[in-house]
Amino acid sequence: MALLEVDNLTFHFHLRDGVVRAADGVSFAVERGETFGIVGESGCGKSVTCLSLLGLLPRPPGRLVAGRADFDGIDLLHCTPRQLRRLRGRRIGMVFQDPMTALNPYLRVGTQVREPLAYHLGLPGGEASARVLQALREVGLQDAEERLRCYPHELSGGMRQRVMIAMALIAEPELLIADEPTTALDVTVQAQILDLIATLQRRRGTAVILITHNLGVVAGSCARVAVMYAGRVVELAPVGPLFHHSRHPYTRALRRSLPHRQGRGRDLPTIPGHPPRLDGGGGGCPFAPRCDHAASLCAETPVLREVAPGHWSSCLRVQRGEV
Ligand SMILES: Nc1ncnc2c1ncn2[C@@H]1O[C@H](COP(=O)(O)OP(=O)(O)O)[C@@H](O)[C@H]1O
Ligand SMILES: [Mg+2]
Repeated sequence: MALLEVDNLTFHFHLRDGVVRAADGVSFAVERGETFGIVGESGCGKSVTCLSLLGLLPRPPGRLVAGRADFDGIDLLHCTPRQLRRLRGRRIGMVFQDPMTALNPYLRVGTQVREPLAYHLGLPGGEASARVLQALREVGLQDAEERLRCYPHELSGGMRQRVMIAMALIAEPELLIADEPTTALDVTVQAQILDLIATLQRRRGTAVILITHNLGVVAGSCARVAVMYAGRVVELAPVGPLFHHSRHPYTRALRRSLPHRQGRGRDLPTIPGHPPRLDGGGGGCPFAPRCDHAASLCAETPVLREVAPGHWSSCLRVQRGEV
């Protein structure tokens, strides 16, 4: 039985000028100890998918339309705010994209990292302080003892991201959700942070959901990957087959636009057009307007189907064996 099973998660925003279908029937499962990637262009619903699991989106304007998310027997989408508060930071840790806005600017680093221990575990002061110091050392923060007394603005971006990871992992959660944890960082620090997450995960057997817009990041870190487009999962597969036998034109287009595959001096292929509006207008495959393989069939609304063992695609032409 998977640690987390998300089934048909449908979360919309009702705004003055229409409905935004930010997550539109999203389903996936994460096994214990596994690293699961969610990848897709900006605005495709990755953050909404994860934030809605933790009850962190405003309702209204947000509205949970349908779905279940079974976390070890608890339906995250239908449990009480009190149950969610007990899970967040304890059994499910979260690393947000921008540590400058996610950390409290008025609190010293040590105070923030300690918070989950006090709140969830009621550890006495001395023991908690030792754990905080250990956690900061574990994430490779240099001069950890001095950093405890710093405010977030006194640290570099990479250090702040390490502090966030320490805070998310300090209560030893079973699941870590990392939402673009390296986007704000330069490439070297990015690699260090990804290594760090992988090391801590192996040591503790934590499952990780790694959200990124960068296909290169999932290639190096994830066992299985869901590719999202326009609020839906369009392909889901183990990382090898996803890269080498991709079964959705959108994933192939994403792969073609990875920089390192190009020769020097050549133009980087881009995906023509723009991601669609998420108003659900038109029906049919949302990628069809940008797809080289689009045909009349693509006016039908696609459903994710298993096209090879463990490999799911929503492309109707792939499902028919035409592409
Ligand atoms: N709090 C909000 N209120 C209204 N719309 C939102 C809110 N949060 C996200 N959205 C919309 O939901 C869609 C998906 O956003 P998001 O999940 O943040 O994308 P990403 O894949 O980049 O993480 C976007 O169109 C975004 O504008
Ligand atoms: Mg996001």
